[in-house]
Amino acid sequence: MSTSPFDPKQFRQALGAFTTGVTIVTTRGPDGQDYGLTANSFNSVSIDPPMVLWSINKDSSSAHAFTEGSHFAVHILATDQEQLSNRFAKSGSDKFAELELQRGPSEIPLLDGCSARFQCKTTYQYEGGDHIILVGEVLEFDRFDKAPLVFHSGGYRRLVPPAPHGQESVIYGENWLGFLLGRAYYQLQLPIRQQLKTMGMHDIDFELLGILSFSEGRTLDELRQLFEFIGKELAQKHLDIWLQKGLLTVRQQDQVFFTESGRQLAIQWLAFAKAAEMSALEALSYDEAQQLKLLISRVIQHTGAELPAHWRKENIWQDNNLWQQPDALLAAR
Ligand SMILES: Cc1cc2nc3c(=O)[nH]c(=O)nc-3n(C[C@H](O)[C@H](O)[C@H](O)COP(=O)(O)O)c2cc1C
Repeated sequence: MSTSPFDPKQFRQALGAFTTGVTIVTTRGPDGQDYGLTANSFNSVSIDPPMVLWSINKDSSSAHAFTEGSHFAVHILATDQEQLSNRFAKSGSDKFAELELQRGPSEIPLLDGCSARFQCKTTYQYEGGDHIILVGEVLEFDRFDKAPLVFHSGGYRRLVPPAPHGQESVIYGENWLGFLLGRAYYQLQLPIRQQLKTMGMHDIDFELLGILSFSEGRTLDELRQLFEFIGKELAQKHLDIWLQKGLLTVRQQDQVFFTESGRQLAIQWLAFAKAAEMSALEALSYDEAQQLKLLISRVIQHTGAELPAHWRKENIWQDNNLWQQPDALLAAR
């Protein structure tokens, strides 16, 4: 019977307002098995001597392993370890299956890929209602250069650093998303267009290289439709120039493919495009850049319902296209 004066659900929700990182705590049980669970009750306690704490639910199936064990390891999870966190938050499954492990004191399992890791000797245990509070002395720790996963109000989050002072709102004057995306796209393309110009090419060549780089084998008609949708016209004379230069070839059923020299040109174009991306993203941290791409992808998915069939990703994004061949790209650098 609950002795709490509060509605447990509301109490839990209020506690969820406290934003934390996410850890996986591991140990080796007295039965010689590995145990571990996801925990966000972790906190620092003391610098000298170095100590940390966390608490485990008495009903957790691994509770005995931690209360009887002599050591534990705390792994502060990185942004890309959400799946691992979910795996260790489920009771019963073989949580360590196929994970590469190192071993710490008393053979405790150590995981890779986290932001920080603390190997501890269990020094104190306290009663804490339905939890047991475990305090450990830190024997050894590692710090890796990876952004941490964050937990808030029952869900995973990522850290987005605050904008520089005075730039809290959208920095560029115009607040309309379309304007911002268009402007960013235009500016991102500019250095690539300039490079192509020095090679005697024009805007329409830029588009043609772009479209064919992820989707060779379009028929002439499909290519024209793709151009029409982005508000441009692919004139026959343009295609003829490419064909005469030996950069493209038309195979049976009217399908357009790169020739070997066309392919080399496309790879070069792709290297320019990648370099322009890297230079544009210098304004952001790695995490911010990933976040930006993720959010834009979500907008793309949400707004894609009315796209003409030939522009849908499943129809335009060919398997094993040039963008998915990093070796070819590296060779072009
Ligand atoms: C973000 C997050 C934080 C959690 N924090 C704790 C915690 O601090 N202590 C705890 O006992 N369980 C915590 N849990 C729940 C356990 O991970 C979950 O009950 C797990 O199944 C226990 O595994 P076990 O039954 O194999 O011991 C948390 C779960 C999540 C998703």
